[in-house]
Amino acid sequence: MIRAVVRKGVTEYGHTIVGFRHGWRGVIEGDVIDLDLDAVRGLLPRGGTILGSSRTNPFNSDDGVARVLATVESEHLDALIAIGGEDTLGVAHRLGAEGVRLIGVPKTIDNDLSSTEVTFGFDTAVQTATDAIDRLHTTAESHDRVMVVEVMGRHAGWIALHSGLAGGADVILIPERPFDIDQVCDRLRHRSKRGENFSIVVVAEGAVPAEGTMTVANGAVDEFGHVQLGGVANWVTDEIKSRTGFDTRVTILGHVLRGGTPTAFDRVLATRFGIAAIDAAHDGAGDEMVALQCGQIVRVPLGDAVGTLKTVDPALYELATTFFG
Ligand code: F6P
Repeated sequence: MIRAVVRKGVTEYGHTIVGFRHGWRGVIEGDVIDLDLDAVRGLLPRGGTILGSSRTNPFNSDDGVARVLATVESEHLDALIAIGGEDTLGVAHRLGAEGVRLIGVPKTIDNDLSSTEVTFGFDTAVQTATDAIDRLHTTAESHDRVMVVEVMGRHAGWIALHSGLAGGADVILIPERPFDIDQVCDRLRHRSKRGENFSIVVVAEGAVPAEGTMTVANGAVDEFGHVQLGGVANWVTDEIKSRTGFDTRVTILGHVLRGGTPTAFDRVLATRFGIAAIDAAHDGAGDEMVALQCGQIVRVPLGDAVGTLKTVDPALYELATTFFG
């Protein structure tokens, strides 16, 4: 993404491009680095970001927005390209109202931004989770076990649903569908009665039981008010063990899904988004996000993209239930 912005921005448009370290924190603090052609060499196969990231919210401190505006002024910025998910781009949209020209780029493994069919990072996370599920199948089958695997997905179960479908999960639990642990256990018993000696259960970190009483969180809250998640699969595993007596093990993939080499699909998508973002910045656009719709890269209002979360398609979840139990 950054490589594409710089390559086209510098060589075709003659712009000077700078990057801010650690997201909005870098803009607040004026922590800027030059992004010339040398700086973006060799980026394609690298995951993460050379700029670093943070959960800083400029609207969370008294002088945050004023400092962002001061940096825009002092660095003589014509436009800012913000790369991220609901939080980063939510800030971008609000800063648009402060007179900053902002272009958003949808990047989150969660794939939960509206107005785009897919965000970049999602495909890599799904592939990584699918590889893990494939590997867990080995022990599941050889040791007659239920393997519970937790993937990221705070509000939306896209990663769980896609990797569960691709990996042949027997149960998939997602935030959009509060689950009934009795029903989960019944499905596993049903499989066992049919002579299937193992099961795979994929759980999104934001999945909750139907009663809605249990949230597994460690209590820490970030600057956007999000509680740190991770661990619901431990509870699911304990319940399955005690209710069914099946030998059940848990694997929490967590940040493994956010690292490593991007898939070819993500590299191409990020490149297309980057080119579209620098085109938009060059054209004088603002308060817009580049998006993928029907295979084409388009520009959409940033407010629409961050207004509501894109949760999983109910029809796709129904399709997945064909393979449950
Ligand atoms: O927003 C993407 C995401 O991957 C969520 O699925 C997850 O809950 C969160 O980030 C984890 O963030 P952190 O690395 O700050 O714990």
